[in-house]
Parts: sequence; structure tokens; C-alpha cells
Amino acid sequence: MIQRTQQVLRGRTAIVTGASSGIGRAIAEQLGAAGAHVFLVGRRVEPMEATRSQIIGDGGDATVVQADVRSPAAVRGIVDRAVAETGTLNIMVNNAGVYDPASICEGDPENWLAMLETNILAVLVGCQAAVRAMRAIKAEGHIVNIASNAAQRRDSGVYGSTKHAVDSISGSLRNELEGDTIRVTNILPGIYATNLSRDWDPAFVQGLLDRAGIDHRVVRGEYLPEDVLTHLKGPMRQIMGDPADVARAVFYAVTQPIDVNVLDICIRPPKRIDLPG
Ligand SMILES: NC(=O)c1ccc[n+]([C@@H]2O[C@H](COP(=O)([O-])OP(=O)(O)OC[C@H]3O[C@@H](n4cnc5c(N)ncnc54)[C@H](OP(=O)(O)O)[C@@H]3O)[C@@H](O)[C@H]2O)c1
Repeated sequence: MIQRTQQVLRGRTAIVTGASSGIGRAIAEQLGAAGAHVFLVGRRVEPMEATRSQIIGDGGDATVVQADVRSPAAVRGIVDRAVAETGTLNIMVNNAGVYDPASICEGDPENWLAMLETNILAVLVGCQAAVRAMRAIKAEGHIVNIASNAAQRRDSGVYGSTKHAVDSISGSLRNELEGDTIRVTNILPGIYATNLSRDWDPAFVQGLLDRAGIDHRVVRGEYLPEDVLTHLKGPMRQIMGDPADVARAVFYAVTQPIDVNVLDICIRPPKRIDLPG
């Protein structure tokens, strides 16, 4: 559940990539509920329109931007648009991500390219574009990069290697920005109930649904219906968290005074499970 707060982010502009689903959607809802104007970025418009309506109902404002973050020009265009339409940019959440569990020996390089471009390149371009915009308008800003618990293990596969890269990008950028009024927070979530699970081993996800008593047949690559994800968060709460928990952590980081640097937030449900490869 997102935290109902006073409108502490009124007058602030935030961009959230990957806001059509899961963790990004929850972050967008949380920032919007606190009064921010949120630019929701993703490829699927329908869920973002629903989130936009919810944010407006909560007293914030929102703009839906259909874009593929694998394109650097598209990412730069979103940042330019947010500044042009609202006059500022204060929060950049580089969240969009994809997951491919295949091993190094068996994986498809096309899927690796999708992970490299979405999970790393788009984060780099998002950071660069946001910093340039924040510097140009002398804004106080926060950049939030969504890494993963996978960045804490050396054997977390190709996906994990992209999240090690995010970890390193956050640390390096933080050093570059010591003299700026821009803080950088790296978020390392464990397992959360989102549509990222459509690319997990289907037998594993089916096992989770069966244990939760949810009657749904899992097919690799197919989006799980929203009501399935909602139900999953209940009985599986010990091992599979609610994306809103991550959103509250982001809210904490971006509402600290500008001279407080929240470096990393590792967050996960009480029980740890490792995804099968
Ligand atoms: N769920 C977990 O257990 C977990 C754990 C650790 C880290 N994470 C990280 O959390 C972040 C969010 O993932 P999630 O779990 O919320 O998964 P999700 O429900 O699948 O959401 C992923 C989001 O990324 C967007 N996206 C993917 N490729 C894109 C592209 N090329 N251009 C624009 N948007 C794109 C998707 O939007 P469209 O499909 O509409 O484009 C969607 O909104 C990812 O970086 C993921 O690696 C998740």
C-alpha cells in the first residue's frame, strides 16, 4: 500500500521509466500521491493512463509518455519535454528493466542486447540527461536507479551483471556530483510480485501460484493479470514483496534534505529465495 502523505512534492517534477507496471508504477503512484507532477514512461499506454487518473485523483499531476527507453534520443526527449512543460525536473527514477534467466552457455544474444540496452544504456542516458537538465535550471534533484539484490552476488547471471553495472553507475555518478545539488540513490530490491516474473521459469511461478491457491495457468512471456499479482502479494508476502514497499523506500530517499545522501537501499521481504536459473 502506498503511503498517504502531505503534498510534500507539490511543485516538483518526477520522471519514472517503466511506469506501466510493477515497481515503477508503484513509485509513480507514491510520488504522485505526494503531489509531484509525474511523467510516466513505458511502452504500454493503457496501464499508464489508469495510473495517471489515480494520481490526479490523489491531488498530483501526471503525463503519459509512450517511449522505448532503449533509444537514447527518446530518453533525452522525455527529459526535455518534462522541463519544457513544467519548468523543472527534480526526480529521475531509472526503473525500466527486463529479465532473461538464460545461462551464458545457452542464452540468446538478442535477449542480452535487450537487457544491456534497457537495464544499463537507458540508465546511463537517463542519468546524463537528468543531470544536464538539473544543472541547466539549477534544480535540487534526486536520481534514483533501480538495481537489484542480484548486484550483491557475483554469480547472478547476465541479468545480475546488468544490475552490477547499475550499482557501479550509481556509485560513480554520486562521486561526479559531490559538488552539485543532485543526490544519487541506488535501490536493490529482492523478490517483488511484478510482471518481471513472466520471464522467470514458468514451473517456478506456477508453483508459487499453486501454493497461494491462485487458479491461473502460467505461460512464459505472458503478462500475469493484475488480479493475480494482487492476490499473490497476500499469501506469498513472506517471500514476495509488494512493489509499494519499494516505492515507500524511494519516497524516503527523495524527501531527504539535499545535503543528505541516501546511498543504497537494500529491501526485500522477510524470507530470501533465489530464483532458479
Ligand atoms: N520484481 C522484482 O522482483 C525485482 C527485483 C529486483 C529488481 N527489479 C527491477 O525493478 C525494475 C522494475 O521491474 P518490475 O519488477 O516492476 O517489472 P515489470 O512489472 O515487468 O515492469 C518493468 C517495466 O519496465 C518497462 N520497460 C521494459 N522495457 C522497456 C523499454 N524498452 N522501454 C520502456 N519501458 C520499458 C515496462 O513497460 P512496458 O512493458 O510498457 O514497456 C514496465 O513498465 C527493473 O529494473 C527490475 O530489474 C525487480
